[in-house]
Amino acid sequence: MDKLLIQGGATLRGEVKISGAKNAALPILCAALLAPDTLQLSNVPQLKDIATTKQLLAHIGVLVERHGDRVSLDASHIQHLDAPYEMVKTMRASILVLGPLLARFGEAKVSLPGGCAIGSRPVDLHIKGLQAMGAEISIEHGYILASTKHLPHQRLRGARYYMDLVTVTGTENLMMAATLADGVTILENAAKEPEVVDLANCLISMGADISGAGTDVITIRGVAALHGAQHSVVFDRIEAGTYMVAAAMTAGDVTLQGVQANMLDAVIEKLREAGAQVDCTEQTIRVRSQGRLQAVNIRTAPHPAFPTDMQAQFMAMNTVAEGVAKVTETIFENRFMHVQELQRLGAKIEIDGNTALVRGVPSLDGATVMATDLRASACLVLAGLVAQGQTTIERIYHLDRGYEMLEEKLSALGANIKRNH
Ligand code: UD1
Repeated sequence: MDKLLIQGGATLRGEVKISGAKNAALPILCAALLAPDTLQLSNVPQLKDIATTKQLLAHIGVLVERHGDRVSLDASHIQHLDAPYEMVKTMRASILVLGPLLARFGEAKVSLPGGCAIGSRPVDLHIKGLQAMGAEISIEHGYILASTKHLPHQRLRGARYYMDLVTVTGTENLMMAATLADGVTILENAAKEPEVVDLANCLISMGADISGAGTDVITIRGVAALHGAQHSVVFDRIEAGTYMVAAAMTAGDVTLQGVQANMLDAVIEKLREAGAQVDCTEQTIRVRSQGRLQAVNIRTAPHPAFPTDMQAQFMAMNTVAEGVAKVTETIFENRFMHVQELQRLGAKIEIDGNTALVRGVPSLDGATVMATDLRASACLVLAGLVAQGQTTIERIYHLDRGYEMLEEKLSALGANIKRNH
Protein backbone atom coordinates (compact mmCIF):
# COMPACT_ATOMS: atom_id res chain seq x y z
CA MET A 1 0.00 0.00 0.00
CA ASP A 2 1.22 3.53 -0.78
CA LYS A 3 2.81 5.64 1.95
CA LEU A 4 3.75 9.28 2.17
CA LEU A 5 7.16 10.21 3.47
CA ILE A 6 7.56 13.76 4.73
CA GLN A 7 10.75 15.36 5.91
CA GLY A 8 9.62 18.14 8.23
CA GLY A 9 10.97 21.66 8.51
CA ALA A 10 10.49 23.21 5.07
CA THR A 11 8.88 26.64 4.73
CA LEU A 12 6.17 26.72 2.07
CA ARG A 13 6.40 29.52 -0.48
CA GLY A 14 4.85 30.24 -3.84
CA GLU A 15 1.55 29.88 -5.63
CA VAL A 16 -0.89 27.01 -5.74
CA LYS A 17 -3.92 26.53 -7.99
CA ILE A 18 -6.90 25.23 -6.06
CA SER A 19 -8.92 22.47 -7.76
CA GLY A 20 -12.67 22.11 -8.24
CA ALA A 21 -14.60 21.05 -5.16
CA LYS A 22 -15.10 17.33 -4.64
CA ASN A 23 -18.24 17.99 -2.61
CA ALA A 24 -19.75 20.14 -5.35
CA ALA A 25 -18.70 17.85 -8.20
CA LEU A 26 -20.26 14.73 -6.61
CA PRO A 27 -23.89 15.99 -6.48
CA ILE A 28 -23.48 17.78 -9.82
CA LEU A 29 -22.35 14.55 -11.53
CA CYS A 30 -25.47 12.88 -10.12
CA ALA A 31 -27.62 15.78 -11.36
CA ALA A 32 -26.85 14.59 -14.90
CA LEU A 33 -29.37 11.80 -14.24
CA LEU A 34 -32.20 14.36 -14.23
CA ALA A 35 -32.08 15.13 -17.98
CA PRO A 36 -32.21 12.91 -21.11
CA ASP A 37 -29.44 15.02 -22.51
CA THR A 38 -25.74 15.89 -22.09
CA LEU A 39 -24.32 17.78 -19.13
CA GLN A 40 -20.88 19.25 -19.77
CA LEU A 41 -18.78 20.04 -16.73
CA SER A 42 -15.42 21.70 -16.27
CA ASN A 43 -13.10 22.14 -13.28
CA VAL A 44 -13.89 18.57 -12.14
CA PRO A 45 -11.03 17.35 -9.91
CA GLN A 46 -9.29 14.01 -10.61
CA LEU A 47 -10.02 12.12 -7.41
CA LYS A 48 -10.93 8.63 -6.30
CA ASP A 49 -14.44 9.69 -5.21
CA ILE A 50 -15.08 11.22 -8.63
CA ALA A 51 -13.94 7.99 -10.31
CA THR A 52 -16.25 6.00 -8.02
CA THR A 53 -19.18 8.25 -8.97
CA LYS A 54 -18.32 7.85 -12.66
CA GLN A 55 -18.40 4.07 -12.20
CA LEU A 56 -21.75 4.22 -10.44
CA LEU A 57 -23.24 6.45 -13.15
CA ALA A 58 -21.82 4.17 -15.85
CA HIS A 59 -23.50 1.21 -14.11
CA ILE A 60 -26.80 3.12 -14.23
CA GLY A 61 -26.28 3.70 -17.96
CA VAL A 62 -24.83 7.20 -18.21
CA LEU A 63 -22.17 7.66 -20.90
CA VAL A 64 -19.33 9.43 -19.13
CA GLU A 65 -16.32 10.89 -20.91
CA ARG A 66 -13.43 12.69 -19.31
CA HIS A 67 -10.80 14.94 -20.92
CA GLY A 68 -8.58 16.67 -18.37
CA ASP A 69 -10.79 18.62 -16.00
CA ARG A 70 -13.80 18.29 -18.34
CA VAL A 71 -16.44 15.62 -17.96
CA SER A 72 -19.43 15.11 -20.20
CA LEU A 73 -22.36 12.96 -19.09
CA ASP A 74 -25.05 11.69 -21.41
CA ALA A 75 -28.00 10.28 -19.45
CA SER A 76 -30.31 9.66 -22.42
CA HIS A 77 -30.13 5.83 -22.23
CA ILE A 78 -30.57 4.69 -18.64
CA GLN A 79 -30.49 0.93 -18.00
CA HIS A 80 -30.45 0.36 -14.25
CA LEU A 81 -32.21 2.29 -11.50
CA ASP A 82 -30.00 1.12 -8.66
CA ALA A 83 -26.86 1.84 -6.66
CA PRO A 84 -25.36 -1.48 -5.49
CA TYR A 85 -23.87 -1.99 -2.02
CA GLU A 86 -20.42 -2.68 -3.48
CA MET A 87 -20.29 0.89 -4.76
CA VAL A 88 -22.14 2.71 -1.99
CA LYS A 89 -20.02 1.18 0.76
CA THR A 90 -16.87 2.77 -0.67
CA MET A 91 -18.49 6.19 -0.93
CA ARG A 92 -21.47 7.42 1.07
CA ALA A 93 -22.17 10.25 -1.38
CA SER A 94 -23.58 7.55 -3.74
CA ILE A 95 -26.86 8.22 -1.91
CA LEU A 96 -27.05 11.31 -4.15
CA VAL A 97 -28.43 9.23 -7.04
CA LEU A 98 -31.59 8.48 -5.04
CA GLY A 99 -33.36 11.81 -5.55
CA PRO A 100 -32.58 12.20 -9.27
CA LEU A 101 -33.46 8.58 -10.20
CA LEU A 102 -36.75 8.71 -8.31
CA ALA A 103 -37.70 12.11 -9.73
CA ARG A 104 -37.07 11.18 -13.37
CA PHE A 105 -37.93 7.46 -13.45
CA GLY A 106 -40.37 7.02 -10.55
CA GLU A 107 -38.25 4.26 -9.06
CA ALA A 108 -34.89 3.76 -7.37
CA LYS A 109 -33.06 1.14 -5.35
CA VAL A 110 -30.07 2.43 -3.41
CA SER A 111 -28.03 0.58 -0.82
CA LEU A 112 -27.99 2.03 2.69
CA PRO A 113 -24.52 3.49 3.23
CA GLY A 114 -23.87 2.06 6.70
CA GLY A 115 -21.40 3.55 9.18
CA CYS A 116 -18.11 5.23 8.47
CA ALA A 117 -14.97 6.21 10.33
CA ILE A 118 -16.39 9.48 11.63
CA GLY A 119 -19.70 8.28 13.04
CA SER A 120 -23.01 6.59 12.31
CA ARG A 121 -24.19 9.12 9.68
CA PRO A 122 -27.80 8.09 9.02
CA VAL A 123 -29.75 9.11 5.89
CA ASP A 124 -33.16 9.26 7.55
CA LEU A 125 -33.75 12.89 6.53
CA HIS A 126 -33.18 12.08 2.85
CA ILE A 127 -35.83 9.37 3.18
CA LYS A 128 -38.33 11.40 5.21
CA GLY A 129 -38.04 14.33 2.81
CA LEU A 130 -38.81 12.11 -0.19
CA GLN A 131 -41.72 10.59 1.73
CA ALA A 132 -43.04 14.11 2.39
CA MET A 133 -43.01 14.51 -1.40
CA GLY A 134 -45.25 11.45 -1.70
CA ALA A 135 -42.69 8.71 -2.37
CA GLU A 136 -43.34 5.21 -1.02
CA ILE A 137 -40.17 3.98 0.61
CA SER A 138 -39.28 0.69 2.24
CA ILE A 139 -36.01 -0.73 3.47
CA GLU A 140 -35.41 -4.31 2.35
CA HIS A 141 -32.23 -6.37 2.63
CA GLY A 142 -30.13 -3.27 3.25
CA TYR A 143 -31.57 -1.35 0.31
CA ILE A 144 -33.77 1.73 0.15
CA LEU A 145 -36.59 0.95 -2.29
CA ALA A 146 -38.37 4.10 -3.42
CA SER A 147 -41.29 4.47 -5.80
CA THR A 148 -43.73 7.08 -7.10
CA LYS A 149 -45.77 4.61 -9.20
CA HIS A 150 -48.89 5.33 -7.13
CA LEU A 151 -48.75 9.11 -7.71
CA PRO A 152 -50.40 10.97 -10.62
CA HIS A 153 -48.11 10.67 -13.67
CA GLN A 154 -45.72 8.90 -11.29
CA ARG A 155 -44.31 12.27 -10.30
CA LEU A 156 -43.22 13.35 -6.86
CA ARG A 157 -45.39 16.16 -5.53
CA GLY A 158 -44.12 19.44 -4.14
CA ALA A 159 -44.10 19.70 -0.35
CA ARG A 160 -42.99 21.92 2.49
CA TYR A 161 -40.33 20.03 4.44
CA TYR A 162 -38.41 21.08 7.53
CA MET A 163 -35.13 19.25 8.14
CA ASP A 164 -34.58 19.03 11.87
CA LEU A 165 -30.81 18.83 11.35
CA VAL A 166 -28.87 20.75 8.75
CA THR A 167 -27.74 18.15 6.21
CA VAL A 168 -25.67 18.96 3.14
CA THR A 169 -26.27 15.91 0.97
CA GLY A 170 -29.83 15.65 2.32
CA THR A 171 -30.57 19.18 1.08
CA GLU A 172 -28.93 18.34 -2.26
CA ASN A 173 -30.85 15.10 -2.74
CA LEU A 174 -34.20 16.74 -1.99
CA MET A 175 -33.44 19.80 -4.08
CA MET A 176 -32.61 17.59 -7.09
CA ALA A 177 -35.73 15.48 -6.56
CA ALA A 178 -37.94 18.56 -6.31
CA THR A 179 -36.81 19.98 -9.67
CA LEU A 180 -39.09 17.50 -11.50
CA ALA A 181 -41.89 17.31 -8.91
CA ASP A 182 -45.45 18.38 -9.46
CA GLY A 183 -45.79 21.75 -7.71
CA VAL A 184 -43.66 23.77 -5.33
CA THR A 185 -41.26 22.37 -2.74
CA ILE A 186 -40.03 24.47 0.16
CA LEU A 187 -37.00 23.10 2.03
CA GLU A 188 -36.65 24.68 5.45
CA ASN A 189 -33.53 24.64 7.61
CA ALA A 190 -31.65 23.84 4.41
CA ALA A 191 -27.84 23.62 4.28
CA LYS A 192 -26.23 26.90 3.12
CA GLU A 193 -22.88 25.46 2.03
CA PRO A 194 -21.38 26.91 -1.18
CA GLU A 195 -21.56 23.41 -2.72
CA VAL A 196 -25.37 23.48 -2.35
CA VAL A 197 -25.38 26.85 -4.16
CA ASP A 198 -23.14 25.49 -6.91
CA LEU A 199 -25.47 22.52 -7.43
CA ALA A 200 -28.46 24.89 -7.54
CA ASN A 201 -26.70 27.02 -10.17
CA CYS A 202 -26.03 23.94 -12.29
CA LEU A 203 -29.65 22.79 -11.95
CA ILE A 204 -30.87 26.27 -12.92
CA SER A 205 -28.70 26.08 -16.08
CA MET A 206 -30.45 22.76 -16.78
CA GLY A 207 -33.83 24.51 -16.65
CA ALA A 208 -34.77 24.09 -12.98
CA ASP A 209 -36.66 26.82 -11.13
CA ILE A 210 -34.87 27.29 -7.79
CA SER A 211 -34.58 30.27 -5.50
CA GLY A 212 -33.05 30.78 -2.06
CA ALA A 213 -30.03 28.44 -2.38
CA GLY A 214 -27.43 29.74 0.07
CA THR A 215 -30.14 30.68 2.59
CA ASP A 216 -31.94 28.31 4.93
CA VAL A 217 -35.14 28.28 2.88
CA ILE A 218 -34.91 26.93 -0.67
CA THR A 219 -37.93 27.09 -2.96
CA ILE A 220 -38.11 24.76 -5.95
CA ARG A 221 -40.92 24.96 -8.50
CA GLY A 222 -41.13 21.67 -10.33
CA VAL A 223 -40.79 21.73 -14.13
CA ALA A 224 -41.79 19.07 -16.68
CA ALA A 225 -38.23 18.27 -17.79
CA LEU A 226 -34.64 19.43 -17.51
CA HIS A 227 -32.18 19.73 -20.39
CA GLY A 228 -28.43 19.61 -21.00
CA ALA A 229 -26.17 22.44 -19.87
CA GLN A 230 -22.59 23.53 -19.26
CA HIS A 231 -21.26 24.23 -15.80
CA SER A 232 -17.91 24.94 -14.17
CA VAL A 233 -17.53 23.45 -10.67
CA VAL A 234 -16.79 25.87 -7.82
CA PHE A 235 -13.32 25.73 -6.18
CA ASP A 236 -12.64 23.41 -3.25
CA ARG A 237 -12.76 25.57 -0.12
CA ILE A 238 -11.51 22.70 2.05
CA GLU A 239 -8.50 22.05 -0.15
CA ALA A 240 -7.90 25.82 -0.08
CA GLY A 241 -8.22 25.93 3.70
CA THR A 242 -5.77 23.06 4.06
CA TYR A 243 -3.07 24.90 2.03
CA MET A 244 -3.76 28.06 4.03
CA VAL A 245 -3.07 26.22 7.27
CA ALA A 246 0.05 24.64 5.72
CA ALA A 247 1.36 28.11 4.85
CA ALA A 248 0.64 29.46 8.32
CA MET A 249 2.11 26.47 10.17
CA THR A 250 5.37 26.48 8.23
CA ALA A 251 5.83 30.26 8.67
CA GLY A 252 5.51 30.45 4.90
CA ASP A 253 4.09 32.75 2.25
CA VAL A 254 1.62 31.08 -0.11
CA THR A 255 -0.84 32.56 -2.59
CA LEU A 256 -3.88 30.48 -3.55
CA GLN A 257 -5.24 30.95 -7.08
CA GLY A 258 -8.79 30.35 -8.29
CA VAL A 259 -10.52 30.99 -4.97
CA GLN A 260 -13.17 33.29 -3.51
CA ALA A 261 -12.38 34.50 -0.02
CA ASN A 262 -16.02 35.03 0.98
CA MET A 263 -16.55 31.25 1.07
CA LEU A 264 -13.80 30.93 3.67
CA ASP A 265 -14.70 33.69 6.12
CA ALA A 266 -14.68 31.55 9.28
CA VAL A 267 -11.36 29.91 8.36
CA ILE A 268 -9.70 33.22 7.47
CA GLU A 269 -10.92 34.77 10.71
CA LYS A 270 -9.37 31.95 12.75
CA LEU A 271 -6.06 32.11 10.87
CA ARG A 272 -5.86 35.84 11.58
CA GLU A 273 -6.68 35.19 15.23
CA ALA A 274 -3.78 32.71 15.28
CA GLY A 275 -1.48 35.48 14.06
CA ALA A 276 -1.22 34.77 10.33
CA GLN A 277 -1.54 37.59 7.81
CA VAL A 278 -4.25 36.89 5.24
CA ASP A 279 -4.72 39.18 2.22
CA CYS A 280 -7.47 38.59 -0.31
CA THR A 281 -8.16 39.81 -3.84
CA GLU A 282 -11.04 38.78 -6.09
CA GLN A 283 -9.48 35.43 -7.03
CA THR A 284 -6.54 34.97 -4.69
CA ILE A 285 -5.82 34.52 -1.00
CA ARG A 286 -2.29 35.08 0.31
CA VAL A 287 -1.34 33.63 3.69
CA ARG A 288 1.87 34.63 5.45
CA SER A 289 3.16 34.08 8.93
CA GLN A 290 6.30 34.48 10.98
CA GLY A 291 7.27 32.89 14.25
CA ARG A 292 4.98 30.81 16.38
CA LEU A 293 1.19 30.93 15.96
CA GLN A 294 -1.25 31.39 18.84
CA ALA A 295 -3.62 28.58 19.83
CA VAL A 296 -7.21 29.23 18.65
CA ASN A 297 -10.48 27.74 19.89
CA ILE A 298 -12.59 26.05 17.22
CA ARG A 299 -16.25 25.08 17.23
CA THR A 300 -17.58 23.35 14.13
CA ALA A 301 -21.09 24.09 12.87
CA PRO A 302 -22.94 24.29 9.53
CA HIS A 303 -21.90 26.98 7.02
CA PRO A 304 -21.14 29.88 7.38
CA ALA A 305 -19.66 28.81 10.74
CA PHE A 306 -16.39 26.91 11.00
CA PRO A 307 -16.48 23.76 8.78
CA THR A 308 -16.11 20.31 10.33
CA ASP A 309 -13.98 19.39 7.30
CA MET A 310 -11.32 21.86 8.57
CA GLN A 311 -11.38 20.75 12.21
CA ALA A 312 -8.57 18.20 11.96
CA GLN A 313 -6.26 20.62 10.11
CA PHE A 314 -6.73 23.30 12.78
CA MET A 315 -6.13 20.68 15.43
CA ALA A 316 -2.74 20.01 13.80
CA MET A 317 -2.03 23.74 13.80
CA ASN A 318 -2.91 24.02 17.49
CA THR A 319 -0.59 21.16 18.49
CA VAL A 320 2.44 23.41 17.84
CA ALA A 321 0.90 26.80 18.68
CA GLU A 322 1.51 28.89 21.76
CA GLY A 323 -1.12 28.27 24.44
CA VAL A 324 -4.11 25.99 24.93
CA ALA A 325 -7.00 25.55 22.50
CA LYS A 326 -10.43 24.01 22.85
CA VAL A 327 -11.63 22.21 19.73
CA THR A 328 -15.33 21.33 19.78
CA GLU A 329 -16.89 19.10 17.14
CA THR A 330 -20.68 19.50 16.90
CA ILE A 331 -21.44 17.84 13.55
CA PHE A 332 -20.03 14.32 13.79
CA GLU A 333 -19.91 12.16 16.91
CA ASN A 334 -16.59 10.45 16.32
CA ARG A 335 -14.39 12.85 14.44
CA PHE A 336 -11.30 12.78 16.65
CA MET A 337 -9.64 9.71 15.12
CA HIS A 338 -6.61 11.84 14.24
CA VAL A 339 -5.94 12.66 17.90
CA GLN A 340 -4.25 9.35 18.71
CA GLU A 341 -2.05 9.67 15.65
CA LEU A 342 -1.09 13.26 16.54
CA GLN A 343 -0.19 11.98 20.00
CA ARG A 344 2.25 9.55 18.36
CA LEU A 345 4.00 12.65 17.00
CA GLY A 346 4.23 14.11 20.50
CA ALA A 347 1.09 16.29 20.55
CA LYS A 348 -0.55 16.97 23.93
CA ILE A 349 -4.30 16.48 23.52
CA GLU A 350 -7.02 15.37 25.92
CA ILE A 351 -10.50 14.43 24.73
CA ASP A 352 -13.59 15.01 26.80
CA GLY A 353 -16.75 14.09 24.93
CA ASN A 354 -16.97 16.22 21.80
CA THR A 355 -14.20 18.56 22.94
CA ALA A 356 -10.46 18.20 22.60
CA LEU A 357 -8.11 20.28 24.70
CA VAL A 358 -4.88 20.89 22.81
CA ARG A 359 -1.82 22.15 24.67
CA GLY A 360 0.69 23.51 22.22
CA VAL A 361 4.19 22.00 22.31
CA PRO A 362 7.31 23.66 20.87
CA SER A 363 7.75 20.93 18.26
CA LEU A 364 6.50 17.53 17.07
CA ASP A 365 8.66 14.45 16.45
CA GLY A 366 8.39 12.58 13.18
CA ALA A 367 6.96 9.04 13.45
CA THR A 368 4.93 6.51 11.51
CA VAL A 369 1.21 7.27 11.64
CA MET A 370 -1.91 5.95 9.98
CA ALA A 371 -4.56 7.89 8.09
CA THR A 372 -8.12 7.03 9.14
CA ASP A 373 -10.30 9.31 7.04
CA LEU A 374 -9.88 12.03 4.48
CA ARG A 375 -9.46 15.13 6.64
CA ALA A 376 -7.61 13.23 9.37
CA SER A 377 -5.06 12.35 6.68
CA ALA A 378 -4.69 16.01 5.73
CA CYS A 379 -4.08 16.85 9.37
CA LEU A 380 -1.28 14.29 9.58
CA VAL A 381 0.35 15.72 6.46
CA LEU A 382 0.29 19.17 8.07
CA ALA A 383 1.78 17.80 11.27
CA GLY A 384 4.45 15.98 9.24
CA LEU A 385 5.41 19.24 7.51
CA VAL A 386 6.48 20.77 10.82
CA ALA A 387 7.62 17.68 12.74
CA GLN A 388 11.33 17.13 13.31
CA GLY A 389 12.71 14.37 11.12
CA GLN A 390 10.67 12.02 8.98
CA THR A 391 6.95 11.31 9.24
CA THR A 392 5.57 8.30 7.39
CA ILE A 393 1.83 8.30 6.73
CA GLU A 394 0.23 4.95 5.97
CA ARG A 395 -3.15 4.22 4.34
CA ILE A 396 -3.04 7.35 2.25
CA TYR A 397 -5.76 6.11 -0.10
CA HIS A 398 -8.01 8.32 2.02
CA LEU A 399 -6.07 11.37 0.79
CA ASP A 400 -6.53 10.31 -2.83
CA ARG A 401 -10.29 10.52 -2.30
CA GLY A 402 -10.15 14.26 -1.76
CA TYR A 403 -6.86 16.03 -2.57
CA GLU A 404 -5.86 16.39 -6.21
CA MET A 405 -2.10 16.07 -6.79
CA LEU A 406 -1.28 16.68 -3.15
CA GLU A 407 2.42 15.72 -3.28
CA GLU A 408 2.96 17.64 -6.52
CA LYS A 409 1.33 20.79 -5.17
CA LEU A 410 3.13 20.63 -1.83
CA SER A 411 6.49 19.85 -3.49
CA ALA A 412 6.09 22.83 -5.80
CA LEU A 413 5.70 24.97 -2.67
CA GLY A 414 8.95 23.60 -1.28
CA ALA A 415 7.77 20.72 0.93
CA ASN A 416 9.92 17.63 1.17
CA ILE A 417 7.29 14.97 0.47
CA LYS A 418 7.25 11.82 -1.60
CA ARG A 419 5.08 8.77 -2.18
CA ASN A 420 6.42 5.27 -1.70
CA HIS A 421 4.65 2.60 -3.71
C1 UD1 B 1 -21.29 16.55 3.77
C2 UD1 B 1 -19.91 16.54 3.18
C3 UD1 B 1 -18.88 16.24 4.25
C4 UD1 B 1 -19.03 17.21 5.42
C5 UD1 B 1 -20.47 17.24 5.90
C6 UD1 B 1 -20.73 18.28 6.96
C7 UD1 B 1 -20.35 15.79 0.92
C8 UD1 B 1 -20.20 14.72 -0.09
N1 UD1 B 1 -19.87 15.53 2.13
O1 UD1 B 1 -21.55 15.23 4.26
O2 UD1 B 1 -17.57 16.39 3.67
O3 UD1 B 1 -18.20 16.79 6.48
O4 UD1 B 1 -21.36 17.50 4.81
O5 UD1 B 1 -20.41 19.54 6.49
O6 UD1 B 1 -20.81 16.88 0.63
N2 UD1 B 1 -27.67 13.46 9.55
C9 UD1 B 1 -28.74 12.76 10.03
N3 UD1 B 1 -29.67 12.29 9.14
C10 UD1 B 1 -29.57 12.50 7.81
C11 UD1 B 1 -28.47 13.22 7.31
C12 UD1 B 1 -27.53 13.70 8.21
O7 UD1 B 1 -28.86 12.53 11.23
O8 UD1 B 1 -30.44 12.05 7.06
C13 UD1 B 1 -26.63 13.99 10.49
C14 UD1 B 1 -25.25 13.39 10.24
O9 UD1 B 1 -25.09 12.16 10.90
C15 UD1 B 1 -24.36 14.48 10.79
C16 UD1 B 1 -25.12 15.77 10.43
O10 UD1 B 1 -26.47 15.36 10.22
O11 UD1 B 1 -24.25 14.37 12.18
C17 UD1 B 1 -24.62 16.50 9.22
O12 UD1 B 1 -24.42 15.57 8.17
P1 UD1 B 1 -24.54 15.96 6.63
O13 UD1 B 1 -24.52 17.42 6.45
O14 UD1 B 1 -25.69 15.20 6.05
O15 UD1 B 1 -23.20 15.36 6.06
P2 UD1 B 1 -23.03 14.79 4.61
O16 UD1 B 1 -23.98 15.47 3.68
O17 UD1 B 1 -23.02 13.30 4.64
